[in-house]
Amino acid sequence: MKWEREFENYLTLHGHKTDAAHDLAHFRRVYKTGLKIAEEGADVEVLIAAAYFHDLVSLPKNHPERHLSSLLAAQAAEKILTAMGFPTEKLKPVFHAIHAHSFSAKVEPQTVEAKIVQDADRIEALGALGILRCLYTGGKLKRTPYHPTDLFGKKRPLNDELYTIDHFFIKLFKLKDLFQTKKGRALAALRTEFLQEFVEKLAADEAGAHRILRVITDGHQKSFFHSLDPFAKNRKLENEYIVDELLADNKDLFISKFLAQLKDEIL
Ligand SMILES: [Fe+2]
Repeated sequence: MKWEREFENYLTLHGHKTDAAHDLAHFRRVYKTGLKIAEEGADVEVLIAAAYFHDLVSLPKNHPERHLSSLLAAQAAEKILTAMGFPTEKLKPVFHAIHAHSFSAKVEPQTVEAKIVQDADRIEALGALGILRCLYTGGKLKRTPYHPTDLFGKKRPLNDELYTIDHFFIKLFKLKDLFQTKKGRALAALRTEFLQEFVEKLAADEAGAHRILRVITDGHQKSFFHSLDPFAKNRKLENEYIVDELLADNKDLFISKFLAQLKDEIL
């Protein structure tokens, strides 16, 4: 599609360079997942524009105006799309889909495209990719990975500003109930199971799970994976990718399961 090339070019020139959780690969995946879970009647042009530009402005999780991110992104997208000659009648639906995608904006998605974009973006918080994104962000914000004696928060209040894994209990495990589309909900349930398995392995002191946690948390200066060859089929392992570091430990059973799950989610 014509727009895919145009949006890719625009974001290659102007996209976030320092935040691997909101890079071009994320926008591409939101679009592709959107197509996968799209229900009949969805407008693909609205879908692609909203998917590629939904995080155009993304204030950090601890920013006081974080709840305005998606509104600012929608406004910025409208300007860019207008300058590109995007169909005028589709600007409003794109604006709504971008504005409504974020939790913190508290805007109910009204259109099929807005529901799809919200689900496709939300699915990224689950599964192996969700683990990668959550631990990476925790590392970036210098949070402690988990409470040393009470990982599940049984005898203390959960606090994800202190402990990264607390975010699984406060938000990620509950996400599956908030999906808007039927296919999105089914996918979310599967990926939540993987998250649960990871936390159980951590709690059981399984070496592979702990290695995954350490490599991702400490890798917050790196990229997630090589954009063209994520699993190093045709290249040597490189120090700048988190996945490459895990590939070097591929003999561990849970690490290879994690990598297989990630492959399924991103390719
Ligand atoms: Fe996003």
